[in-house]
Amino acid sequence: MKKIVILISSRGSNMQALLEAKLPCRIAAVISNRADAQGLEIARARGISTAVVSHRDFADRESFDAALAEAIDSFQPDLVVLAGFMRILTDGFVERYAGRMINIHPSLLPAYAGVNTHERALQDGVKIHGCTVHFVTAKLDNGPIIIQAAVPVLPGDTPDTLSARVLHEEHRIFPQAIRWLCGGQRWLDAQGRIASNRIEQVGTTLISPGLD
Ligand code: GRF
Repeated sequence: MKKIVILISSRGSNMQALLEAKLPCRIAAVISNRADAQGLEIARARGISTAVVSHRDFADRESFDAALAEAIDSFQPDLVVLAGFMRILTDGFVERYAGRMINIHPSLLPAYAGVNTHERALQDGVKIHGCTVHFVTAKLDNGPIIIQAAVPVLPGDTPDTLSARVLHEEHRIFPQAIRWLCGGQRWLDAQGRIASNRIEQVGTTLISPGLD
């Protein structure tokens, strides 16, 4: 059975969704860059190994990333899962886990890479927003896309209401992406594209606002 390590920085609701999802892989550990991340308690309560590598203990990104890599590698994971891990990673770290590190991002990439995605979507008046699970590459929030979910932006939405709607979908697509990757139904091919052993493609159209 494949092994995954999950990296978090705070709340850990995506991590919790993964712990509850009965994935076809072993969650070897949850690692945080903050000792006070609420998600660590949730993981411990479920008997998952946890570790803290605090970025504050290191002089620069390179030495932090080296210590983080050492902690990750001690669990020998097949897949490294960034679930709300709020640190920019060095190119060397990304290269080390090339093709075996994924991230969840709260926007329909390539729109709204970076932070404050919900605020920026509302500011632009887009009618559809969402979330993305993707492989991590050197360019921020830009790697091959595994799965996305789209939600409508509703009149009166605030960053909080929109974020809650998106988060609900994050909790659905993240376990699916890992199920595919650990089960061998999706993989990264030699050209760096997502390949699938399924021919058929299913999904529904979201039109926002809806047609009369
Ligand atoms: C999520 O919105 C995720 O997409 C983003 O950071 C947030 C983390 O939330 N990268 P949680 O810690 O999983 O609750």
